[in-house]
Amino acid sequence: MPTPHNNAKKGDIAETVIMPGDPLRAKFIAENYLENPVCYNEVRGMLGYTGTYKGVRISVQGSGMGIPSMSIYSWELFNEYDVKNIIRTGTAGAISDNVNLRDIIVAMSASTNSAYASQYRLPGTYAPTASWKLLSESVKIAEKKNVVCHVGNILSSDTFYDDSDSLAQWQKMGVLGIEMETAGLYMNASRTGKNALCILTVSDCPLRNLSTTAEERQTSFRDMMEIALETAVNI
Ligand code: HPA
Repeated sequence: MPTPHNNAKKGDIAETVIMPGDPLRAKFIAENYLENPVCYNEVRGMLGYTGTYKGVRISVQGSGMGIPSMSIYSWELFNEYDVKNIIRTGTAGAISDNVNLRDIIVAMSASTNSAYASQYRLPGTYAPTASWKLLSESVKIAEKKNVVCHVGNILSSDTFYDDSDSLAQWQKMGVLGIEMETAGLYMNASRTGKNALCILTVSDCPLRNLSTTAEERQTSFRDMMEIALETAVNI
């Protein structure tokens, strides 16, 4: 059944979905990595495709920016389309001094300043966490590829332009990098008993005023995509 945000019919979407934030990245991945990709969604330009990679059926769909957008699409994929695994591929700003431009971060957990968890009415602080199966497989693949890969806690922030100068506080707590979607994805996966993982390439260092060029982003993007696709076919 199509949803208000997704035209796909049941069965159009594979068990494993790779989700970049940018729908045009989804189109690029489908056209450059998947065999026989078929577009299943164009609603709001949030493109989604299903094809095969090394003989395994895989989908790729944009998530949009921020926890609200990511959580709408991932909720529907898990609950309405029987998707079992979602691997987010995105960009992050470095927070830790040990993380540099173009490095890869695999998000073991995602701290957040979002109120998303309040809907669960938990008597404490929830810790959004990756699926061990996806996490361990992706790290094995990254090590085999000799890619610099940091595994740990990230911050999923509700703000890109932020007035509070709080990054140094998160840095003190060992947080590796900042992005805007993963905590919502991990909570949706936990709530539905499904699997999720987020792999990020570092596009900028807000505390050091550094950013990558579009050309530099392309190489680390390729490493990240290959780690995500290999993880998808090995699980
Ligand atoms: N802040 C939030 N999200 C991001 C950033 C950032 O600096 N870089 C890439 N995604």
